[in-house]
Parts: sequence; structure tokens; C-alpha cells
Amino acid sequence: MICSADINAARLLKRLDDFAAIGATPAGGVNRAALGRQDQAARALLAGLALERGFRVFQDPLANLFIRRDGKNGSLAPFLIGSHLDSQPTGGRYDGALGTLAAFEVLEALEDAGLETEASIEVVAWTNEEGSRFAPGAMGSMAFSLGHIPQNWQDIRGTDGVFWRDALAETLAALPVAEQRPLGFPISGYLELHIEQGPSLENEDIPIGIVTGVQGTRWLDITVTGQAAHAGTTQLAFRRDPMMAVTHALHTLYETIMPEDGDARLTVGRITALPGSVNAIPGSVSLSIDLRHPQSDRLDKIEAQVSEAFQSSVAPHGCKADIRRTFDMSPARFFQPVIEGVERAARHLRLRFKHMVSGAFHDALYVARIAPAAMIFVPCRDGLSHNEAEYVEPDHCVAGARMLLQSALEVISAGAGKH
Ligand code: GLV
Ligand code: MN
Ligand code: MN
Repeated sequence: MICSADINAARLLKRLDDFAAIGATPAGGVNRAALGRQDQAARALLAGLALERGFRVFQDPLANLFIRRDGKNGSLAPFLIGSHLDSQPTGGRYDGALGTLAAFEVLEALEDAGLETEASIEVVAWTNEEGSRFAPGAMGSMAFSLGHIPQNWQDIRGTDGVFWRDALAETLAALPVAEQRPLGFPISGYLELHIEQGPSLENEDIPIGIVTGVQGTRWLDITVTGQAAHAGTTQLAFRRDPMMAVTHALHTLYETIMPEDGDARLTVGRITALPGSVNAIPGSVSLSIDLRHPQSDRLDKIEAQVSEAFQSSVAPHGCKADIRRTFDMSPARFFQPVIEGVERAARHLRLRFKHMVSGAFHDALYVARIAPAAMIFVPCRDGLSHNEAEYVEPDHCVAGARMLLQSALEVISAGAGKH
């Protein structure tokens, strides 16, 4: 399908700058914790821009934000394009924002060109993709795909102690201009543009990744409990030191999981010792573990190895380990006809591409459970993301937005609306 609409590069790049100013950090990144004030400000800015252009704005009970440009055939389910606006605590300005703002640029480009689509197109900004303030991640797209809010989410507290349900209520109330929408209404398909967050496109000098699937993720919260005691007077034989047990378990895991399987990832990103005093043996040590693998059965085995390493390390130190799984995202495969639509778009735009599996998780993984979905990646400098230094060449941002526009039209015209 040949498309007469085109991305306005200057407008897209300015939008990226404007949104990067919300929650800007001194080192050039952003801090827009999910459902926090900065996240709310970013939503309000996007909703305001949408209303100015005459689009309708909705939010559902999870505060997923939708911006609708009506299609010719109101009986067709809308086609969704988007990503997220929340960030890591020291996050980059492109992770999530590029996909959301490029999606909005697609609506504006269609509007500028007066090009009508058969199905309506809606931009979506999913709630709490990152999961770093409130776990699990991808809460908005997960609840949307389930069609309900899991009961056990009501008691979730953020890393700052705030109840998730209170932050959600505050965020919903902060956007009174949005019309209300039920959770999980029918959609005809989904496309998400995102930065790769790894180095392969840059290393191979390829501007576009066509994502065929996403590897699986599991998160564990582990607390090892021993006995707090005096740092100066307690001899080795009398110590019940959870830090010694934790370091022993982690040493074993770092020596085995990734060295033995090149596809496995194990990350300890958060660790807290309590009471947290320089001259007291800690009474407990809590840590997060993030596990990734493209195969579910390998994730099962790795999780069992983690459990075994902790259980066998705590006993010699007179400690106990409590291990809780907080997130389980099975690997996903995207929908072949949507992937093919994205390939046609790349050929039409004469952009070189390669197929890839995403190492990071994305909202598209959950959306793929209920609708035909796929993703488009663009390179980021040094493959760096979840870092304030994250950077994407302007040309790559614009090429990604062009791909999103052309791919959406390809997929819609191939009949996604009738799927
Ligand atoms: C998403 O932010 C991830 O951690 O993969
Ligand atoms: Mn992201
Ligand atoms: Mn992220």
C-alpha cells in the first residue's frame, strides 16, 4: 500500500525534547516513576495535544491512556499503536517515549494528509510498563489482556511504600478530560515501536529490527533472615549473617547460570540490608532477581537453580530464605501476518532490516495474547538503555516513526480490522 501521509520529523523530534523535560534528571535522562507526578504530567501533556488536534481521549480503569482517530468504518475494532510513558528511576528519554510519541505523530501525519483509514487507529500509553516502582511490570497491558484487574494487585506497594491502588486512583483523577473506557475492549491489532535496548542493530549498522518475539522474564523477591548482632563483638562461630549467605548463593549463581548458557540472563538490581547500620550484622537481606530466557522450560530450571543455591547457602549460616515470585512473563511469538506487513513497509521505505527476538519485555507481549501484534526496533547508541545516557540518532527516530506509519497502514489494509 502506498501512503501519501508522511511523518513530520521536526515535530516528532521537538515532542521527544518536550517530553524529556518532564522528570528530566541532571545527567540527561528522565525519572517518571509509574503513576507518579511526572508520569501524570506526561499523560496530561499528551492528552492536551490530542484534544487540540480534535482526537478523543480515553482512559480505562488501569489508567491506560487511549487517543482515538476515527476510521471510516465505526463497526471495526480499533488498531492500536503505542508504548509507555513511565520510566526507570534513572531512565533514558527514548525507552517507551519514542514509541508513544511516534504513534501520536502517526495520527497527526494522517490528519495532516487528510488520509482516512478503514478501522480507527488509537494511540495507547500503557500504565506501568517498567515495574520498577510497582511490580509486576507491564501492569496496564497485562490487565487489558486479562480483561480484569487481578485481585492480589490491591495490596501492592511501591518501593516508596505507596499503595498501588492509591497512586492509580490519583492518576485517574488527575486526567478529568479523559472519557472512561472499560478494560480490555476488542482491538484488531497492535504495533509497538521501541528502541532495541541492546547493541545488535548498531553493531550491524541496520536501521530497523522486525521483532518476531520476546524472551521470557521472571522476577523473584528473596529475603534471607538471620540475626542482627554487634559487628565488633560477635565471633564468626556465633554469627547468623544473612549477607554471608546471600553472597555465597550469588557467587554460585554468577559462576553457573550465565557461563553455562549464553541465552540466560541473571540480574540482581536491588539489595537492602536491615537495619542498615555500619556496625551491626544485618538481621535480614532482601534482594530482587531478574531472570530471562527465550525458553520457558529453561526459565523453570534456572528458577529451581536459584532456589537451590539459596536454600543450600542459608543453612550453614543459621539463616532462612523466603523466595517469592513476583512476575512471570512467558516468552511470546508475534503474529506472522503482522510481521509480514512490517516487512512490506520496510521494503516500501527501502530500509534495511533484520528479524530479532527482544531481550527486553514489552507491553506487546501481553497484547499479542489477545490480538495480532508485532514490534519494530531502532538502534540505540552503544546498545545502552535503562541508563540516563540512552541516545537514539534523530534519523533513527524518524525512520522508526515512518515504519510505524507505513506498517500500520499495511496491516490495516491487509485486513487486521476484520481479524
Ligand atoms: C523492560 O523494561 C524490561 O525490563 O525488559
Ligand atoms: Mn520500554
Ligand atoms: Mn524500560
